[in-house]
Amino acid sequence: MKIATHELRCTECGARIAGTAVNSIFRCPTCNGLYDVIYPWSAISNGDTVASDSKLPNASALRWLWQERRTSTLSVDQSGVWRFRDLLPIVEDLDHVVTLREGNTPLYDLPRASKALGVDWILAKHQGMNPTGSFKDTGMTAALSVARERGFEWVACASTGNTSAAMAAYAARAGLRSIVFIPEGKIAWGKLSQSMDYGALTIQLRTDFDGCVNVLTDLVNRFPIYLLNSVNPYRLEGQKTPAFELVEQLEWQVPEHIIVPGGNLANGSALAKGFSEMHHLGLIPRIPKVSIIQAEGANPLYRSLQENGGQELVPVKANTRATAIRIGNPASWRKALRALRTTGGWCEQVTEQEIALAKAEIGAEGIGCEPASAVTLAGLKKLVAQGKIGREERVVLILTGHTLKDSAYTIDYHRGELFTDDENTQISAPDQLLHTALRKPPVVLDPDTDTVFRALESQMKLVHA
Ligand code: F0G
Repeated sequence: MKIATHELRCTECGARIAGTAVNSIFRCPTCNGLYDVIYPWSAISNGDTVASDSKLPNASALRWLWQERRTSTLSVDQSGVWRFRDLLPIVEDLDHVVTLREGNTPLYDLPRASKALGVDWILAKHQGMNPTGSFKDTGMTAALSVARERGFEWVACASTGNTSAAMAAYAARAGLRSIVFIPEGKIAWGKLSQSMDYGALTIQLRTDFDGCVNVLTDLVNRFPIYLLNSVNPYRLEGQKTPAFELVEQLEWQVPEHIIVPGGNLANGSALAKGFSEMHHLGLIPRIPKVSIIQAEGANPLYRSLQENGGQELVPVKANTRATAIRIGNPASWRKALRALRTTGGWCEQVTEQEIALAKAEIGAEGIGCEPASAVTLAGLKKLVAQGKIGREERVVLILTGHTLKDSAYTIDYHRGELFTDDENTQISAPDQLLHTALRKPPVVLDPDTDTVFRALESQMKLVHA
C-alpha cells in the first residue's frame, strides 16, 4: 500500500525538500536549520473552500477509524503510533513498518500529588510503559521504519541511554545493525544493558552527550549510516502521537497544561506539533500549554530565556543525576522555543533535591518513573507556587521513562546516600519531613520471627497484647 505523502520544511528559512533529498545530518544546507515533516493538508486552512476541505482529513472519520483499529489484529493497528498513521504518512509501504506495539500507554491520576498541591486534576501519561521503557519507542518506530524503507543497513545515535535502548531494539527487530555512542560512566546501567542485550555495537566515549553528538555528526557525513537522534524529524512524527492518544483517552477533552522534561529539547515540540495538527484538523477546539522543565544543572534553555529572551542558546557544561537530560547544548532548542511560544507554556528549572523528592512522591503513588521524568512534578509545584497553574486547571505530566531504568538512583535515595552533606543542608525543613516520610530503606534482619515481629511492631506502631 502506497501512503507516503510528505515533504520536509526547514524551520529557519522555510525551504521545502522531498523527504528523500535530506542530507545525512538532517540540517538545511543553506541555513543549518532543522526540518519539520509537513503534509499536503498542513498548509490548508480550516476555513478553506469546499474544494480544499476535501483534502483535509475529516475529524469524525479519523476518530472513528482510530477507534476501529483498536479491535484489529494487524500489528500496525495494534501499535499506538501507527494506529494514527493517517496523520504520519511517512512510509510508502506499511510492510516496512518496524513495530514493537509501542504507545498504548496508560494515563494515571495522581491523587496524593493533587491533594498536596491543591490542584484538582493531575494526571500522568506514563511513556515509560513503552516496550523498552521510555517514550523514545514512539519516535524510534517511525524513524527506523523510514531507515529500513530507504535501504540503510546501519543506524546510529548518540544518547544519554534511552534513545540507544530504543534504537537497538527496533534495529534488531528490523535486522539492521546499530551503533550507539554514549558518554562513558554517565548513563544508567539499565539503559546500557539494554543496548547490549539488543545487540548494538555500544561505544562509550570519554566525553559527555554533547561530545558524542559531535563525533557521530562527523561519522554520518562520511559513511552511509542513518542518524537516529531527534534532529531526525521522522522521530518527532512518532513522538507527536501520544498527544493523539492522550486526548482520545480523555474522550477528546483537552487539558490546560502538558508538562514535559527538557533534555535535547525535541519532545516538547513533537507533542506541541501533535496538538497543533489536531487543532488544525478540527479534532480538538484548542491547544494546551506545553511547558518544559530542565534540571538546574542542565538548564541551557532556561538560562537563555532568562539571559537573552531566547535570542541565542547559552550552552552549559551539564551536570545532573537525572542523566537522561544531562545535556548542555541541545540540538532542538529553537523548536522547543517555538513550542513554548505557540502554546503559551513556560520553561522552568528544578534542583537535584526537588527532582529526588518528586520522584519519591511519584513512586509512592504506586507509579514510579526515572529521575528525568520526575522534573515534571517538581516543575508543576513551581508553576503552581508562581500562580501560573490554577486549582481548577487540568494538568498532564509526561512521565518519559520507567523507574527500573535507573534503580541505582532509587536505592541511593532510599538509603540516604544520594546527596552530599552540603546538598542535604540545602533542603528546606518542610521538604526534609517529606523526604523522611518517603524514604523506605531496606531493613536487614536475622531470620528470627521475634526479631522480625519487633521490627514490624515499631513500624506499625502495634501494641502487642
Ligand atoms: N526524559 C527521558 C527519560 C529521556 O531519556 C530524555 C532524553 C528526555 C526526557 C528529554 O527529551 O531530549 O526530547 O528533550 N533522552 C535522550 C536520549 C537525549 O539519548 O535518550 P528531549
